[in-house]
Amino acid sequence: MTLPAGTSIRHLGHAGFVVEHAGLRILIDPWFHPAFLGAWFPYPDNRELLPETVAGRYDYLYISHTHEDHFDERLLAQLSRETTVLVPRFRTGEPGRRLAALGFGEQVRLGHREQYRLGPDCTATMLLDTSHKEDSGLLLDLGGHRFLDLNDCNTPMSELPGDIDLLAAQYSGAMWYPNAYDYPPRAMAAKTAAVRADLLDTLVRKVRLTGARAYLPSAGPACFLDPELARFNDRERTIFPHWEDVAERFAEACPTTEVIRTAPGDRIDAPAPPGRWHSDPEGYLADYRERRRTEWEAYHREPVEPVTAAEVEAHFERLQRLNRPLLADYRAGLRLEAEGTAWGLALGRLAEHVELEDEPVDPSYVIRVPARALRAVLDGRTGWEEALLSMRLSLHRDPDVFDLTLLSLLRYGHRPAQTRQLVRERTRTETIERDGLRLQRYCPHAGEDLSHAVIADGLVECPRHHWKWDAATGACLAGGALPLLVEPAEPPKDAHPPRPEGRTTS
Ligand code: FES
Repeated sequence: MTLPAGTSIRHLGHAGFVVEHAGLRILIDPWFHPAFLGAWFPYPDNRELLPETVAGRYDYLYISHTHEDHFDERLLAQLSRETTVLVPRFRTGEPGRRLAALGFGEQVRLGHREQYRLGPDCTATMLLDTSHKEDSGLLLDLGGHRFLDLNDCNTPMSELPGDIDLLAAQYSGAMWYPNAYDYPPRAMAAKTAAVRADLLDTLVRKVRLTGARAYLPSAGPACFLDPELARFNDRERTIFPHWEDVAERFAEACPTTEVIRTAPGDRIDAPAPPGRWHSDPEGYLADYRERRRTEWEAYHREPVEPVTAAEVEAHFERLQRLNRPLLADYRAGLRLEAEGTAWGLALGRLAEHVELEDEPVDPSYVIRVPARALRAVLDGRTGWEEALLSMRLSLHRDPDVFDLTLLSLLRYGHRPAQTRQLVRERTRTETIERDGLRLQRYCPHAGEDLSHAVIADGLVECPRHHWKWDAATGACLAGGALPLLVEPAEPPKDAHPPRPEGRTTS
């Protein structure tokens, strides 16, 4: 890859970059310290870059979102507060608020597609996930070289910019489904294979839609150094493959796209040959585990105050109070198990109160959570989203159907601006016409623009997480339980009147 004179892009590992152009320096998503209850570590190890990253002078800092593998608070606390921060303008006010609390007073808050001039021939354009999820990507125009850093952000496909020289985006999973569920081996293998295929399909679409001439695998996978979590380093049986595990299929799908494989510290125009992390990943990981022993052991050393039923009840009552519009008439059973203690939670109608029952309710979801992790959630030191990402929790569901309401309550309930947006998304009525169908424009799961849906064989498939619906009835056949509004675009004269509006069933 050739860059304009005076431009360099250096990969710090994971989703981190230092971009230099015409004397400007931009630091992007630097991540060095363990994330998510001490579970995630950067892979390959990038710690040797920490001193120079901290000592560096930057004109701009960009933090894409608040996940701890992007918002590394320990690192941020060491950076100069003189740096101007490019901040995605999310509904919740994060991450601007947290950056301000750290002392970053100079902030440029940018909404979706807003552009900011960084220098005479250098602009930054913010791209948001416009759904209730809060994530962002950044398009940097560096004297005509267009670098699109999408990290793990899912900007709607219809909103992606084109004519991209370099795309940095996720190819590996960063989610607890399915590997944190207790599926039997055969079901787990099938679900894992499906998610891996979907991840690659989504990446290929992004490459094609952006016209990316070069692609840099970024934003994962992390590694798990705590021996308790070692099984998630299995690159074949999890949704966390290495690039080499998917490279061939990518090359088949995007044969003209140059792939730039980097290790931490590499400049993208001169990446070094892969090191031991590539030739001997197991040995490399074993040594890495020893180097960071005190860090992953810290999670286990933390004293744990026993959790009481009153605390659990108060926690869920608060979540429900904050999220009445989301819950509406929702009613479901959740069983929470924490090392020998179990609580049956009847999440209540109209979110008036949570019924904490002595005897287990009939739960559709069971969450097994280490007492330490539950204590951290109840104390507000971490959220359910982060606890789930840690892979320290184990889940069971029966029926095996994704419950968007429950998971949204857990993941976003403490920031109800997100769940209110989810409710708005459920009532959106905009439609599009495709392949003889009139269907709702935005995916009922997470708002992807279905202008790019795959419609074939009687199915409508969302291009983001690949939920599938019956094109005739709108019934959800794979992924979740939310129906899609769909009908013939021009119903024949003798057709029955349109069916009533579908409603959320989860
Ligand atoms: S946005 Fe997730 S399946 Fe459509």
